Amino acid sequence: MTDYLPLPGTPVEELDTPCIIVDLDIAEANIAKLQTAANEMGVDVRPHSKTHKSPYWARKQIAAGAIGICCAKVGEAEVMVEAGVTDVMITNQVIGTLKIARLVALARAAKMIVAVDDSSNVDDLSRAASDAGAELGVIVEINVGQDRCGVDGKGAVDLAKQIAAAPGLRFDGLMGYEGHIVAERDYETRKTEAEKAMAILTGAAAQIHDAGIEVRVVSAAGTGTYAITGRVDGVTELQCGSYIFMDGDYVEVFDDFTPALSVLSTVVSRQREDVAVTDLGLKSISVDRGLADVLSPSGASVMGHSEEHTRIELKGEEARSLKVGDKVRVRPKHGDTTINLHDYYFGVRNGKLEAAIPIPGRGKFR
Ligand SMILES: Cc1ncc(COP(=O)(O)O)c(C=O)c1O
Repeated sequence: MTDYLPLPGTPVEELDTPCIIVDLDIAEANIAKLQTAANEMGVDVRPHSKTHKSPYWARKQIAAGAIGICCAKVGEAEVMVEAGVTDVMITNQVIGTLKIARLVALARAAKMIVAVDDSSNVDDLSRAASDAGAELGVIVEINVGQDRCGVDGKGAVDLAKQIAAAPGLRFDGLMGYEGHIVAERDYETRKTEAEKAMAILTGAAAQIHDAGIEVRVVSAAGTGTYAITGRVDGVTELQCGSYIFMDGDYVEVFDDFTPALSVLSTVVSRQREDVAVTDLGLKSISVDRGLADVLSPSGASVMGHSEEHTRIELKGEEARSLKVGDKVRVRPKHGDTTINLHDYYFGVRNGKLEAAIPIPGRGKFR
């Protein structure tokens, strides 16, 4: 199969489309900024690779000082471990014989940590790890208000005791992702609610500590709460993901990090004065958080997508001068789900392609 990749040095306007463009200077500055902030707050960084799904970026984050990475799925973790990442936390429950066998195989090659919220799952993990002669790190997920997965403090003590006594398992600590509040636009509400969430998490850690079990890891935070959660006493590591590229949704939350991600498309039809049609479609951009914002040309806005097309409304002279073959650049509202549709980032510096960066974790949702 041929990928038809452009050569390094290709100007952005000549890149084949639709494609994801990452401004490398900006993404690198975002990585450095989170790390510096975390160092100042005295917490570790373990970035969530569910955003970038790419060992290229994981290596950059680790080189900047991250202690390891988070993955959402075993398939993502396999990609990272194969690429040489040696410290991986899976922030979700891994259920079922086949997936647990794959997780245990990874634990023989790297330091693996997995989240749990169920006693029968702990039994299954313990059996598989001890049968394979592996040691698997386990954290208990606490429901800190997102009401997705996770137990409360009492449930956490019971699970921590079970894990601490289970062959093949190492009790590492707790995680609690305050996902219900990370993208809250109002800072005061975000702060109050994130602190409430962290009180639940650190309260659970205290209960486990009182039961005589050491809690080494207390992992939390998304991009929107890094500077709030990072200052909470007892939180040991931040698992932010989106900060690296900042999608259109997060751009509306704050400007602590700079947007680095865009999607380039080409006008393929120009039959009406006030509408252009591009080659961007639902197979190359996600819309689960809304329609993309047009970055250029000015005066253009997305009307809607079909599988392979986008209709762009054109207002004003610059937009209406668009011709077939011209480029339209947009910022997706949701980075993670858009990136998951692509095989490569086109990494750009000073307006020119530096590298086509593979995304081998895309589609690895098992
Ligand atoms: C468990 C968990 N931790 C961390 C993150 C990263 O959050 P963000 O993308 O807001 O930085 C996510 C994102 O969905 C998540 O599900």
